[in-house]
Amino acid sequence: MTLVRPWRVSARIDGRTHGLCATVGDPAGGAEVEPAPVRVVPSTDPAHLDDVVAEVELVGPETILAAAVAAQAAARSWAAVPAPVRGSVIGSFGRLVTDNADALARLVTREVGKPVAEARGEVQEIIDTCEFFRGEGRRLYGQTVPSEMPDRQLFTFREPLGVMMVITAGNFPVAVPSWYLVPALLAGNTVVWKPAEYAAACAQAMVELLAAAGVPAGAVNLVPADGRATAAGLERALAAGAVDKVGFTGSTEVGRSIGALCGRHLQTPCLELGGKNPMVVTPGADLDAAVEAAVFAGFGTAGQRCTSLGTAIVHESVHAAFVRRFDAAVSAAVIGDPTGDVLYGPLLDARFAAGFERHLTLLRGHHRLSGSTALGRITGTGGAAGPCAAGTEGAGTEGAAGFGGLPRNGPRRGFVGDPDRGLYYHPLIVDGVRPDDELFREETFGPIVGVTTYRDLDEAIELANLPGYGLSSSIYTADAASALRFRRGVRAGMVSVNGSTTGAEAHLPFGGNGRSGNGSRQSGIWMLDQVTRWQSLSWDYSGRLQRAQLDTAVPAADLSFRLPG
Ligand code: UN1
Repeated sequence: MTLVRPWRVSARIDGRTHGLCATVGDPAGGAEVEPAPVRVVPSTDPAHLDDVVAEVELVGPETILAAAVAAQAAARSWAAVPAPVRGSVIGSFGRLVTDNADALARLVTREVGKPVAEARGEVQEIIDTCEFFRGEGRRLYGQTVPSEMPDRQLFTFREPLGVMMVITAGNFPVAVPSWYLVPALLAGNTVVWKPAEYAAACAQAMVELLAAAGVPAGAVNLVPADGRATAAGLERALAAGAVDKVGFTGSTEVGRSIGALCGRHLQTPCLELGGKNPMVVTPGADLDAAVEAAVFAGFGTAGQRCTSLGTAIVHESVHAAFVRRFDAAVSAAVIGDPTGDVLYGPLLDARFAAGFERHLTLLRGHHRLSGSTALGRITGTGGAAGPCAAGTEGAGTEGAAGFGGLPRNGPRRGFVGDPDRGLYYHPLIVDGVRPDDELFREETFGPIVGVTTYRDLDEAIELANLPGYGLSSSIYTADAASALRFRRGVRAGMVSVNGSTTGAEAHLPFGGNGRSGNGSRQSGIWMLDQVTRWQSLSWDYSGRLQRAQLDTAVPAADLSFRLPG
């Protein structure tokens, strides 16, 4: 078991990187603050709830403020390191992640229950991010801009912001943090990182790898904390001028309050929030391909990606065939122990299981359920309810016993492993969702996909936009005009033609609109705008004061001139 403590990446001493540094303080030599844990919580393996992966020391607001001050003290010297050298540190981090890929992926699987193949993909996403930003250390281009004055040259420079506070969810416990940490460090910022408590061991492993890569003291500060302490600590750090930018990946609700808090300090955070991602299936689409994508998009990662498929919007002429094939594929899918070859494993943590249980209460009498032989927890052969099972209050007349012909909780055919040891849930296809259903409008973050129908593409686009999110989207079609009309009409930040809503590549702009974010984009060159600010330089070598606009000499034009005829 690991002890996860607040952490500052320690300096190299005697040629060796020293590991855990259980203090947060001033790396320039000021008094160090011993972080006082306010509470110790276990981070458990959701596939084996009796396996405690880490004891996590949660800190209070004052330690978060101290971490921000420590990061601020380290910021100037880190920014002074030439960008290509910072790029080399990112390159070393990428190599270390590559060489530790199996161990890191195994930890991801153990701590958040992500199937091992997906965990390996998540680790690859860090490597891809490092590959991209390593090279950016040799670019970080500014521009030379012509002046309207003679003997004057204009320039632009990308400058680091200072301290970035990064707050991340645990569904991508290492890849999504790397989307912030890698570009923030590359651009010369220092970081305070608040990971999800239930993914703290993964966070610690990341920070250890950063330390081994040569990231200096104080440049990355890990502060495990609960939501309340994080909000209070962030507020204090912003008020003290010790945080210059916030990066947040998580729920729309929390994103909204972070946005409001940052706004009061005249800051624009980078917000990556929820999604209710649509997949439109047109009449001429390859139905088998669409079903394969819907299974992966809806049920991969147990539906716990912000990019997961929310609702399949299927043309009425192919709806029956689509649902039949979708049901067959989901019913046959192998679910279970994430160390095996499974479609998905357990939910991330008890609070996500409880959240998913709440979403099951949104089932209504007009919904047609398929994809499973039971609803709710996957149990052993006895069919006993697991520790997190709850009733489906409000779920029509059949009540807590079950719904829509499906019993509440029960075994699943072909399940791999011991279902009663983990937080496993049956997959659910909910056909017949309607625009005014909460299930249609709200992100469900679990193994559940809604299905509805449309008649013409305009209606499909309207349905796709209706929930007001705008992260990812997909259309299955053989018709180029439909693909292009969909792209233009859908308000999502990401559009996929004949592909999954999930699985964005690590160098395309990632982010959403509406309830999915504030328009910020991560990844690739677009992320540079989140981790730097532009500074302009006007350099006059005329030897006199040249006043822009006033002294600009433009030759007189005869605007009455016309060509003959
Ligand atoms: C998330 O769920 O917060 O595009 C990120 C994807 C992944 C990232 C998801 N590359 O599905």
